[in-house]
Amino acid sequence: MTEHILVIGATGYLGRHLVAELKRRAYRVRVLVRSRERAQADGPFGSPALADLVDDWIIGDVTDPETTAGICDGVDRVVSSLGVTRQKADPWDIDFRGNLAVLRDAERAKVRSFGYVGVLHSETGTSATMRAKTAFSEVARRSSVPAQIINPSGYFSDLTDLLTMARAGMSLHLGTGETKLNPIHGADLAHFIADRVPDAPGRWDVGGPDILTYRQLEELAFDAVGKKPHSIGVPGQVLRSAEWIADRISPRISNLTRFFGEGLATDAVGLPTGTHHIAEYFREHAQAGQNAEDGSLG
Ligand SMILES: NC(=O)c1ccc[n+]([C@@H]2O[C@H](COP(=O)([O-])OP(=O)(O)OC[C@H]3O[C@@H](n4cnc5c(N)ncnc54)[C@H](OP(=O)(O)O)[C@@H]3O)[C@@H](O)[C@H]2O)c1
Repeated sequence: MTEHILVIGATGYLGRHLVAELKRRAYRVRVLVRSRERAQADGPFGSPALADLVDDWIIGDVTDPETTAGICDGVDRVVSSLGVTRQKADPWDIDFRGNLAVLRDAERAKVRSFGYVGVLHSETGTSATMRAKTAFSEVARRSSVPAQIINPSGYFSDLTDLLTMARAGMSLHLGTGETKLNPIHGADLAHFIADRVPDAPGRWDVGGPDILTYRQLEELAFDAVGKKPHSIGVPGQVLRSAEWIADRISPRISNLTRFFGEGLATDAVGLPTGTHHIAEYFREHAQAGQNAEDGSLG
């Protein structure tokens, strides 16, 4: 029998790949989105349009109790890639309370599993995002609904910032740039998560196939845009001062500074999986950026 699965965070970079992968595996897919029009258009960083992939649309905001009440009726499973990345919102409202509202409804509806996308090493992070994600993972782990918690390394989408810096001629890393990570493509992560959906509850730390230092990633980005590498190491003390100042400006600036600063300072290497390589992704995106620039000049 076809299983019915709810995806929240479906319009995001990962969420769109997830919907595509689950649909490919013949799930009946329900999504919660804030704008159907935006969902149906192409997504960010090459992620797919949801136009032909969704069976059941719920339009609303996860912070609205009227949206989440009964959202799991008729649903067998839930997967959440819901979170605050670049949106102007408090992670405690979305990553914690938003996911919690849907989990509570999943418990009421007695769904078979709840897949949650956290982030690698959130338990050591001091940003609001990391603390909210750790808190929700803990609630999900203790839920009556079996939880699959997937903690990924950085996504290819986020590393596109390195291309932007390389195009501008200079990039920044922390200290000597030896922090390691294995970035993962949204399609590869979606594949890994879809494999876990019918699985037992558990927790997985996961990343892409290439384990690289920040310096190596910067070199790949400069290579992709055809420029000579020029990167600067920011001393750890400068980052700590920036955090001190950010904490006094606003909770949002504090969260962003701590999130990105700690990301630059902490190795994030999960179980290597997938077939997409960051060097190739950089080359494709550098070319796409160049074509767009040529088009706008022509
Ligand atoms: N990006 C990374 O490198 C990375 C690494 C590890 C873990 N993660 C985690 O993986 C998850 C997905 O990341 P991503 O890069 O795909 O993020 P993303 O592109 O920003 O997607 C976030 C999703 O959450 C939705 N959302 C936010 N606030 C909402 C609200 N109030 N009501 C309904 N939906 C709301 C967004 O909807 P809208 O489109 O309407 O804003 C979007 O669909 C996040 O939890 C993130 O923390 C990300």
